[in-house]
Amino acid sequence: MKVLIAKNSGFCFGVKNAIDTTMNIFQNTNDNKNVYSLGPLIHNNQAIEELKKTGLEVIDSIYDVGKGKVIIRSHGVPLDIYDIAEERQLDIVDCTCLFVRKIQKKVNECYNKGKNVVIIGDRNHPEVIGINGWCNNKAYIVNSEEDVNKIPSLDQICIVAQTTITNEKFETLSELVSKKSTDVEICNTICNATHIRQNSCKDVSQEVDAMIVIGGYHSSNTQKLVEISKMYCKNVYHVETADELPLDALKKHDKIGITAGASTPTWIIEEVYDKMVNISEDNNDMAALLENSFK
Ligand code: F3S
Repeated sequence: MKVLIAKNSGFCFGVKNAIDTTMNIFQNTNDNKNVYSLGPLIHNNQAIEELKKTGLEVIDSIYDVGKGKVIIRSHGVPLDIYDIAEERQLDIVDCTCLFVRKIQKKVNECYNKGKNVVIIGDRNHPEVIGINGWCNNKAYIVNSEEDVNKIPSLDQICIVAQTTITNEKFETLSELVSKKSTDVEICNTICNATHIRQNSCKDVSQEVDAMIVIGGYHSSNTQKLVEISKMYCKNVYHVETADELPLDALKKHDKIGITAGASTPTWIIEEVYDKMVNISEDNNDMAALLENSFK
């Protein structure tokens, strides 16, 4: 049996940075108390449980704590959170993804120049709430044609996107928003990490007899990987952990592919890999492929 791990499986750059930074805090201190993340650091139950064991506590509001370190996750936060943290003498560990920070700075600059900011995305998503907080919560947030219809004619507009929306949605809605003004700046701020992961999943699915997709059952980006896998491969197994692997069914296949959603920790991917090593007779190939995969 041969096993291929799709490139770019698992954590994206921003999530990996947040996890590594958090783990470093715990590795480099004797005091594991008073380390908080503002909102869950990652949408993966197994990873959250592991982080809790190291001492990380999740808080919903910056007002929930009076001292210690507060980790800002990759989604970022509204600008005023930094002032509130300073007033409360909290130590901020900022893990805002670089790509999200770029959007925050852009909308802040536009707002200060008197431009109207339009964010294409989900108004309830923490990333969008955070970006809006960099333009004094004055952005028009649109996720549908109906939302765009509610925007009046405006002088100057700057359009940005939530990093994880589809290009198709961005193109359709930005075109409609553009009709609201004669002075429009369109910034396509979609992050291509998701797109790259999906493409790698497609490539591997086409080559194998069975695909293992690792990730939360409620994770929308993992479900998308399942969908893509099913388009190109007849046998697709979606698991959250290595314990769930249907080993008897997997044994029947000659070539197996593995991919994982954006919130799947590397150690879970490795556990799946280890289980596959145990039922495979061709371990060397797998080791080489694994080495090439976590990029
Ligand atoms: Fe991840 Fe940052 Fe892109 S958090 S999805 S690399 S915007």
